[in-house]
Amino acid sequence: MPNLFSSLFSEKSYLGVDIGTTSIKVVELRRANSSFELMNYGFLESYGHLERLNNALQTSTLKMLDRDMIQLLKILIKNSNVKSTRVVASLPTFSSFTTLLEIPQMSSEDTTKAMQFQAKQYIPLPISAVTIDWIKVGERKDEQGNTIQQVLLVSVPNEQIKKYQAIFKGAGLTLASLEVEGLSNARILSSASKQTTLILDIGSRSTSIAIAKNGNLLSIGQTDFAGGSLTQTIASGLNIRVRRAEDLKKLRGLKGSGGEFELSTLMLPILDVIISEAQRVRNNYEKGYTDKVEQVIVTGGTANLLGIISYVQDQMGLPTTKANPFSQIHYPSSMEPLVGELGPELAVAIGLGIKPLK
Ligand SMILES: Nc1ncnc2c1ncn2[C@@H]1O[C@H](COP(=O)(O)OP(=O)(O)OP(=O)(O)O)[C@@H](O)[C@H]1O
Ligand SMILES: [Mg+2]
Repeated sequence: MPNLFSSLFSEKSYLGVDIGTTSIKVVELRRANSSFELMNYGFLESYGHLERLNNALQTSTLKMLDRDMIQLLKILIKNSNVKSTRVVASLPTFSSFTTLLEIPQMSSEDTTKAMQFQAKQYIPLPISAVTIDWIKVGERKDEQGNTIQQVLLVSVPNEQIKKYQAIFKGAGLTLASLEVEGLSNARILSSASKQTTLILDIGSRSTSIAIAKNGNLLSIGQTDFAGGSLTQTIASGLNIRVRRAEDLKKLRGLKGSGGEFELSTLMLPILDVIISEAQRVRNNYEKGYTDKVEQVIVTGGTANLLGIISYVQDQMGLPTTKANPFSQIHYPSSMEPLVGELGPELAVAIGLGIKPLK
């Protein structure tokens, strides 16, 4: 595990912890004058999930067990040499429920009350079982000239929050803040430009889609098709083991062939499903706002798939780049050769880590 600046002071530093369905990533960040500095980072990937990909029921409900998670976290904390125990963590998009609502302009306190009330209609769980949060994402004038505010309502099952608290406590850490991963992606990936950005986070078990601008989240979507589905389709198409398919995918990407099939022939139909979901989120956003999506940023481990950036660019018809969260922080120059590939994998963790430092 890489180990940077291990001698640096740990006060005022925070851990951003991204618990994915197949990996845990940790970064330790601190404030350095007007910028943020990376102190340590580390990640652990569990390969067990590759075997489980063979299961017919391949859904995001197949999560790491709490007990395993505590063990993995402890190992990761030790090996990456982080000092801080204060954690900002993310929840996967599929474990939360998000709706965009329009309500009249009112004070922040009144908006909170209105949201509690509105939530009852929109959330498929008893209101006592969820924790509600809201973010104002925009406003517009209606025909009468009244200001209408657009508010993103986010609700998370209390059970999920308790589970996370227990996991971090078990690993000797304190959970300072918890948020949906779309927020951290928006914070770290959309603040560099003034453009409205669609962030396509293609992980292992799920893809989350966020529309963001100036660091703020505007809309959110999700699909269960992701990197794991690409591996699975290669394994069944070429009749090879999943582990081998995973290696082939990472080695050749959309550009290579594997025996009688071009790998792209197998993978493109899956990517097309992901992209059509992104288009749906984009269209919904553009219908509700006068604003248009101007660029796409691909993130998550699958952003490293060879050829994916130009494919997404062609399909979406928008300028498309790979996530580079490192452009927003200071890091040692020795890391330079690594940041291209690490960026998409660590974006959520970095976005979490800078939250309390902003
Ligand atoms: N070079 C590469 N080429 C293609 N795919 C890659 C490459 N590197 C990583 N991946 C894929 O990225 C995925 C892991 O991405 P990531 O680390 O973002 O997932 P995660 O956060 O653990 O999962 P999730 O967000 O779904 O819970 C895996 O499917 C892996 O195969
Ligand atoms: Mg992820």
